[in-house]
Amino acid sequence: MHVAMSSIRDQLPFDPFKAIISPRPIGWISTISSDGIPNLAPYSFFNALSSDPHLIGFSSAGWKDTVSNCESSGEFVFNVVTDELLTSMNRSSSAIPAEESEFDLCGLAMSDSQFVSPPRVARTPAALECRVVEIKQLADIEGKLSQTWLTIGQVVGLYIDPDFITSDGRFDTAKAKIPSRCGYMDYMAAGSLFELDRP
Ligand SMILES: Cc1cc2nc3c(=O)[nH]c(=O)nc-3n(C[C@H](O)[C@H](O)[C@H](O)COP(=O)(O)O)c2cc1C
Repeated sequence: MHVAMSSIRDQLPFDPFKAIISPRPIGWISTISSDGIPNLAPYSFFNALSSDPHLIGFSSAGWKDTVSNCESSGEFVFNVVTDELLTSMNRSSSAIPAEESEFDLCGLAMSDSQFVSPPRVARTPAALECRVVEIKQLADIEGKLSQTWLTIGQVVGLYIDPDFITSDGRFDTAKAKIPSRCGYMDYMAAGSLFELDRP
């Protein structure tokens, strides 16, 4: 099949967009509200954007608590999800009032960050502490504004659990067993890691 994207739903029962851009890393984002309430939510419209400066970004379909907290505090933390944290990550996507914390809902312990105010997930193998560079309301090719906001942050602090640093000083991606998000209700478990030299 080869169709205009605008008519995709006439052709297929579900939009395959997210299944085609798969697997996606899961940005498990912790923030803190202006009332000091810690918030935690997963965002799979998430990725690294630049390594100089170290920029990461995620987009929110709607002005969600995470974006609101990013705007008010100017800070967020990306927590790496592992196999054993997957159920908690999923639960942290529950729509709960801003006055309640997903850390409590999920029974997840927090640890203080060093360079920003939002805490990290204590059991994450790695976390990136970020200051917000920009929150941009996305528009389409006609310039029509959407209800989707892209938050870009610069990594100002890095946490790695020492158990996940190899003897030659690398982050142990294979040991972390990082699951990823696909389309529909699908996830992909971490596969085997291999090296490929560049030409
Ligand atoms: C794996 C996963 C990925 C998600 N990715 C996104 C995303 O990229 N953008 C988005 O707006 N919502 C996404 N969601 C839904 C949000 O996590 C959910 O709306 C959450 O309640 C938002 O929390 P907040 O209001 O505390 O920010 C995702 C949910 C899951 C389980």
